[in-house]
Amino acid sequence: MSKNVLVVGSINVDYVINTDRLPKLGETITGRDFAMNFGGKGANQAAALAKAGCSVKMLGAVGTDMSGELAVKNLESYGIDASSVLRSEGPTGAAVITVCGGDNHIILDVGANGTVTPEVIAANESLFDWADILVMQYEIPTESVLAAAKMAHEKGKMVILNPAPVKEVTKELYQYIDLIIPNEFEAQLITGITPEDNASAKEVIDALCALGCKNALVTLGIKGCAYIVDGDVHYTGVFKVKAVDTTAAGDSFIGGLCAKICDGWNMDDAVEYASATSAIAVSRPGAAASIPVAEEVREFMANNKISKKAALE
Ligand code: RIB
Repeated sequence: MSKNVLVVGSINVDYVINTDRLPKLGETITGRDFAMNFGGKGANQAAALAKAGCSVKMLGAVGTDMSGELAVKNLESYGIDASSVLRSEGPTGAAVITVCGGDNHIILDVGANGTVTPEVIAANESLFDWADILVMQYEIPTESVLAAAKMAHEKGKMVILNPAPVKEVTKELYQYIDLIIPNEFEAQLITGITPEDNASAKEVIDALCALGCKNALVTLGIKGCAYIVDGDVHYTGVFKVKAVDTTAAGDSFIGGLCAKICDGWNMDDAVEYASATSAIAVSRPGAAASIPVAEEVREFMANNKISKKAALE
């Protein structure tokens, strides 16, 4: 039976424009294919979990503007229980995204996400009783991430943290984390070590565990990811696809991974599923909408091979 996952995190609307190059400071250039998409790292990860078949509840906040209601409806359309999402006076979180050559730049105004305070966490304790697993990121106040991690940990729930966008946090947080999933940039800022080969990837993971996290997986962009199984570092490559829009690449990976951890898969298989989820997501435009459902991932995996790796080059 699938496990219950609580996502405590951000809900944004993404304002996206495609461009062949980025403007210089003070310069205006013409882009194309403007789109307003539903995003937010929390909402995207919740969408990926629900699309993979998990039972998902979301705790977060939207504004009292029109886009807030639409964002909640979008979560519900994926089968996510969004009944605890607050409506806070002011705007919904907004991300201005430029997609350039398949990659992106993001500027975020957290808006209503900033109102997910530790008091909101305390007032929603019943969600933590319901959940088996808690999934979080850093687009809500970090004091609230700490409060939620502590509450879930004290109730014996598994706590998974995607430290994105990376922030200074109290070291206390790490002791409540069962699995931390940074990308290489975030891992470097947290540990001071760049994961560029076998030895440094292991050092990064060891450093994250030395901070207090029970386990760590570092995503490495087109190089795949590195993680520990029974004390050994494992590396997994990527499924090769043409990247159209990398927005939610990490979120879809994390959602897919957590979903398969919930299903009791071993890490190697869960990572492969997560990589396939992310590969499909980057091959289409958008954030939450680009994330595939389980059936699409299964079909993709049947027709495509991941590049297996014995080492990080
Ligand atoms: O991780 C991608 C997300 O980051 C986007 O959807 C945007 O909302 C930003 O939060």
